[in-house]
Amino acid sequence: NSNAINAKLVLLGDMGSGKSSLVLRFVKNQFFDFQESTIGAAFFSRTVGVNDASVKFEIWDTAGQERYHSLAPMYYRGAAAAIIVYDITSTESFERAKKWVEELHKQGNPNLIITLAGNKTDLEDRRKVAAADGRMYAEERQLVFIETSAKTATNVSKLFYEIAKRLPRV
Ligand code: GTP
Ligand code: MG
Repeated sequence: NSNAINAKLVLLGDMGSGKSSLVLRFVKNQFFDFQESTIGAAFFSRTVGVNDASVKFEIWDTAGQERYHSLAPMYYRGAAAAIIVYDITSTESFERAKKWVEELHKQGNPNLIITLAGNKTDLEDRRKVAAADGRMYAEERQLVFIETSAKTATNVSKLFYEIAKRLPRV
């Protein structure tokens, strides 16, 4: 039907921030304490119903290790949405996330839906990045902001639904 939408989605962010864990939680409802670091990129898909539409997410989970940085444009080019992930226990990962936002603003398309996700909220006692700092940065750049935990599943569905809601209807 005319309300079936295919949406290419890319995850970007520092190594270890939890990109693969967020995708695995969303696609398979699984979580691994010893998730392997991604090599290159991995592809997943899941279809969800949102209001009157059926949205098929075609998800590219990229590798955060610096040596794979040059591959990133292959995955964000033509994407409808990007999730930039940082780890709330790591200020370096937050700084890396800001660099990704800058890169997408320079090279991405102006209609790209960019979401900033502060992950690992279950590690509240080790938090280094205040939620207010993430939210303020996201507001300045007009990004969607959400804090998540792939481990406890907190806000993981919401993260993807917030994107699905914003996709242009055909
Ligand atoms: P790269 O593939 O190397 O770029 O890393 P990544 O961003 O895909 O991170 P990954 O999902 O592999 O997670 C890294 C580590 O953090 C793993 O040991 C996960 O179990 C752990 N992890 C991911 N999400 C969470 C979370 O929400 N809470 C906690 N406590 N640990 C998490
Ligand atoms: Mg990974």
